[in-house]
Amino acid sequence: MAIDVALMRAETPGCEMVRHFNNAGGALPPRPVLDAVISHLQREVLQGPVEAGNAAAMAIDDAYTAAAELLNCQRHEIAIAESGSRAWSAAFGHFALGSGRFGPGDRILTSASEWAGNYIALLDAARAAGAAVELIPTGPDGTPSIDALQDMIDDRVRLIALTHVAANGGMVNPAARVGDIARSAGIPFLLDAAQSIGQMPIDVEVIGCDMLTAPGRKFLRAPRGTGLVYIRQSLLEKMRPFLVDNSSAALTDDNRIVFGRDASMLETNENSRALRIGLGVAIRYALSLGLGEIEARITSLASYLRRQLAHIDRVVVRDQGRRQSGIVSFTIDGLPGVAVRDWLYGRQINISVGGAAYTPLDMKARGLAEILRASVHVYNTEGEIEELCAALGDFVRQCGH
Ligand SMILES: Cc1ncc(COP(=O)(O)O)c(C=O)c1O
Repeated sequence: MAIDVALMRAETPGCEMVRHFNNAGGALPPRPVLDAVISHLQREVLQGPVEAGNAAAMAIDDAYTAAAELLNCQRHEIAIAESGSRAWSAAFGHFALGSGRFGPGDRILTSASEWAGNYIALLDAARAAGAAVELIPTGPDGTPSIDALQDMIDDRVRLIALTHVAANGGMVNPAARVGDIARSAGIPFLLDAAQSIGQMPIDVEVIGCDMLTAPGRKFLRAPRGTGLVYIRQSLLEKMRPFLVDNSSAALTDDNRIVFGRDASMLETNENSRALRIGLGVAIRYALSLGLGEIEARITSLASYLRRQLAHIDRVVVRDQGRRQSGIVSFTIDGLPGVAVRDWLYGRQINISVGGAAYTPLDMKARGLAEILRASVHVYNTEGEIEELCAALGDFVRQCGH
């Protein structure tokens, strides 16, 4: 069933305040998420934090169950983290300490879309071990070439790391095709789904990834300070926690340390129960709309936005890829991105500006120093897109040539 846009807007308090096109930075949470977080904080204040947490055990547990439903995996293959970066480092760090121990001559393959933080961590681990991080050559549409990837596979490849949707552009990378190659070669595959989770269906069995990480605050519309990790059961058996505490490990009577064997070994003892409850409610909210329906609405809004932008003088739409997401990237000749963003912000229109600090390889490949990013969600409307484009057109005219 198509998304009821009027209902979405009524259930999204932020829609009354702003035209929000920074969903890739952080989306507007819906009312049920806000209510769930605030009411748990109130219970903490009135009943005691520990007692309120115990009373909310089922709602907290449901965040895991809902995440497993969202990704089509087992509940024990899910861990909750505090951000996308925390989630990714937990997965990568635990993998690198366990079965993934890299050594001289080992190879890690990644693509030009890789998030800067991931790439730096891969390089750091590889350099320490005498291993190498290699980029999968890019095909004509900007996505990693599947043929080139196939040719790179040998028994020294220890990990394939891919960012599903690049932070600075609309391109959706062919994760399932990468997953096919990884699976048939028996190479662990780590997918960063920061920008894809919540805006399209993601099924870890279809994609074939062994680890997946994502923050909650982007297209999933969960509160800030949340994130998800998925680790496939077969990999869990070989992992070792790098943050060892009483949550990831237990002490036996004879003083032996026994590590946890489900994904929660990636977590530590203390965390925000209110945010976890909010994360669970946000996932349930997305599931109730249907990820296919969400993707259809986002894709249609994003292509409308691309068409409208193309009519504005000096605007160049920069998105690549055959399959495109809700992230629309563009530049305006002669205008600094921050000036554009701030001018729109003064008119209650939110977009973001990104630079090489976020996706250095991708920006270099596209020959760009910075990029404007307008990202849509189900509650945006064609009317809001027209207002955004009218405001951009005004700014361009005002700045002259
Ligand atoms: C593709 C990608 N990966 C990772 C991250 C890092 O997530 P976080 O900011 O939650 O640490 C981002 C953030 O924008 C991202 O876009």
